[in-house]
Amino acid sequence: MNSSKLIDGKAAAARVLQKVKQDVLMLKADHIQPALAVILVGEDPASQVYVRNKILRAEECGIRSIEYRLAADCPQARLLDLIAELNNDASVNGILLQLPLPGHIEETRALQAIDPGKDVDGFHSENVGGLSQGRDVLTPCTPTGCMYLLEQTLGDLSGKHAVVIGRSNIVGKPMAALLLKAHCSVTVVHSRSQDAKALCQLADIVVAAVGRPRMIDASWLKPGAVVIDVGINRIQDHDRSRLVGDVDFDAALAQVSAITPVPGGVGPMTIAFLMKNTLIAAQQQRQRALAHSQPQEAVCL
Ligand code: GUN
Repeated sequence: MNSSKLIDGKAAAARVLQKVKQDVLMLKADHIQPALAVILVGEDPASQVYVRNKILRAEECGIRSIEYRLAADCPQARLLDLIAELNNDASVNGILLQLPLPGHIEETRALQAIDPGKDVDGFHSENVGGLSQGRDVLTPCTPTGCMYLLEQTLGDLSGKHAVVIGRSNIVGKPMAALLLKAHCSVTVVHSRSQDAKALCQLADIVVAAVGRPRMIDASWLKPGAVVIDVGINRIQDHDRSRLVGDVDFDAALAQVSAITPVPGGVGPMTIAFLMKNTLIAAQQQRQRALAHSQPQEAVCL
């Protein structure tokens, strides 16, 4: 395998986490303990694994984590009360509500209940809107991690043509907004696109986030394209199960200039940027608290 083409997400995540750790120590020296509240409703097995990993990673970074597990039949009002409590708790800097939620809970209502300043997922409309206006807001962790990998690989992205495959609220749409903010020309292709493959063949950068195992093969890719594969799909391969991306990695490798593997590409970046967002939220809340505690200078008219 041509390992010089591999974009190593594990190593990149380790660098991001190392810097977060150092910055957390600086806050602690100022008697500030960054804290992340993680809420899990129900017993979805994949969500349980994600939440456990987020909590472990927070501890490694010196971030206090507080886990709330609510029953699958928990009334929506109880979840909204908990979020309100956490919004009002100055010792909590970040709130993460693990998705998906059970069907009886309105996802948008619950996400909108989170204080935008503590919204470490960047899913609140205040943050979604801020990103689309190019403001400096908390942005979703997975696409932010993808941007980090792209900038490490290509440097300045300005003027590149990027194709995002998939239009989810968690990855596709914020990814497109982040690429646009970085001055790319952006095309979003999705299940209703007339010729997704032809559009993808024009791309300098491809970000695949569809959740379909190995849907994108070499024939979709322009020679020299940089490919970020967000898909994590479990497949049965002969007699064993394994993880593959949305891109047919082996076939694509000869065609691309760089590509993320699955696993070990985008996956580790999501948690690293969750920690980074928690740190940023803590720093911003501290700035705001300091600004409020400064005596206002008298204004002479
Ligand atoms: N479920 C799958 N991905 C995510 C994510 O990035 N954030 C949250 N809160 N839930 C998820």
